[in-house]
Amino acid sequence: MIVSIASDHAGYDLRQQVIAHLKEKGFEVLDGGATNGTDAYSYVEAGKKIAEDVLSGRADRGIAICGTGIGISLVVNKYKGIRCGLCCNEFMAKMSRQHNDANVLAFGARVVGKGVALGMVDAFFEAEFLGGRHAERVGDLTKLEEEHFKA
Ligand code: RB5
Repeated sequence: MIVSIASDHAGYDLRQQVIAHLKEKGFEVLDGGATNGTDAYSYVEAGKKIAEDVLSGRADRGIAICGTGIGISLVVNKYKGIRCGLCCNEFMAKMSRQHNDANVLAFGARVVGKGVALGMVDAFFEAEFLGGRHAERVGDLTKLEEEHFKA
C-alpha cells in the first residue's frame, strides 16, 4: 500500500516518526510538506499534496498532520472523493475506517504524542470498512459532493 503523508512545520517532527513507523511496517511512503520544523509552511499546501496523490491514484491513503489537525483536515475535505477523519485516539481512527470509509487520517502534533499517533496509524490501516448501512451513508455523502462540489 502506498501512503501519501504531508504536514506543515508544526507536524514536521511527528511526521518523521510516523514515516519511520510506516516504512518499518512495509508501506511505501510519498512524503511532502514542510522540510523542517522551524520555517513556516502552510498546511494548505501540505493538504493539497495529499489530496492530489490520493485522488490521482498515486497513493492509496493519506496521513495529514498539522498543529491541531484541524486546518489540514479542512483542506483535504475540500476535495471531492476525499473522506478525512480528524482523530485523537485509536477508537476514532478505527471507526473512521469501519463506519466512514475514510481515505485520509488527520491528527494534530500539538494534540497527540508519538505513542497515540502511531497507535492511530496502526488502527487506521488494520480496520476495514464495514459496508452495509454505513455504505448507504457514505453514498449519501458522495451525493452531497455531487450536488455541492464543482468537478
Ligand atoms: C500552525 O501554527 C498552526 O496554525 C497549524 O499547524 C494548524 O494547527 C492549523 O490548523
